[in-house]
Amino acid sequence: MGMYVWGTGCGASELIRAGLEPSRIAAFLDNAPSGPSFQDRPVIRPEQLKAGDAELLIVTARAAEEIARQCAELGIPEERVLFLKNSARIQDRNQACTRAEALLGKKLLNKLLPRQCLVTEPACLSSRILKEDEDDPVRLWTLELLCRRLEEVPGAAAELGVYRGRFARCINRLLPQRKLHLFDSFSGFSPEECPEGAFQEAHRNTGIEQVKRALPHPEQVCFHPGFFPDSVGDFEERFCLVSLDVDFGASTLAGLRWFWPRLNPGGYLLLHDWANPQLPQVAQAFAKFQKEMGQILPGIPLPDLGGTLILCKTQSSL
Ligand SMILES: C[S@@+](CC[C@H](N)C(=O)[O-])C[C@H]1O[C@@H](n2cnc3c(N)ncnc32)[C@H](O)[C@@H]1O
Repeated sequence: MGMYVWGTGCGASELIRAGLEPSRIAAFLDNAPSGPSFQDRPVIRPEQLKAGDAELLIVTARAAEEIARQCAELGIPEERVLFLKNSARIQDRNQACTRAEALLGKKLLNKLLPRQCLVTEPACLSSRILKEDEDDPVRLWTLELLCRRLEEVPGAAAELGVYRGRFARCINRLLPQRKLHLFDSFSGFSPEECPEGAFQEAHRNTGIEQVKRALPHPEQVCFHPGFFPDSVGDFEERFCLVSLDVDFGASTLAGLRWFWPRLNPGGYLLLHDWANPQLPQVAQAFAKFQKEMGQILPGIPLPDLGGTLILCKTQSSL
């Protein structure tokens, strides 16, 4: 019997950062492990875990609906499963979990579950997307609404900062007729921006093939691997929709400088983490960019989990 953690991405790194000693973790579980270990602990596939082995299974991955189903199939009782990505749900999945407080302690548990809030789903919007990426409905519903407004706007879609392609696959699904350009190092952050550590390590855990497999229309997608802006080369394109999600200042500024002039009027640029207090460089880079432009850019803040700012391109904000 021991403590297991489902997921080897950012959520798992956050859990360690919040105070759970890796030595207390018997193993990490991952449906598609990219190596035999994470944080010096073994990584196993869920089917290798015997139902009785898990005293507590902490789910840090986002696909909570799917994982809850897998746990049921594996016979792991609900009272032993704690979902950390449980925010913005209609139902609190952790109601049944009675083991967490005794094993983790009240202090750590409170730190891990800070954002419980309830929303209801607008009936007119696609629940199909949310089945895969259900933890931030505001972000996804907004993307869906924006995509519906792009019919008259020419240009491709793009994302700078793709990681495992969770948001990119929603764009690809909502804009199946558009080219989608994906820019990422696919090997983590630039060492100049992000020091070695759990955050950096978690973002190395991806690759082009992994992202490609997750995309519903991969034939529409062009990958631009490498560090932006060097990865651009002499590539030229115009855009109707850009998602900018690189967490740090210099990359955010480089993204704004390159994409904003190439965004067509009527198009949108989604600046993720603009209001995220844990990633203050994003807002600082945006403030610097506005200063360079000599104008206030028309932006709408979203009440989503990352604190996205949506920039709307109009003729006068060229
Ligand atoms: C937060 S993740 C992106 C998450 C993704 N947008 C999503 O919602 O699923 C940030 C990604 O930006 C990438 N990144 C950051 N700076 C970069 C740069 N200058 N060039 C290329 N990739 C970069 C990192 O490698 C990482 O994969």
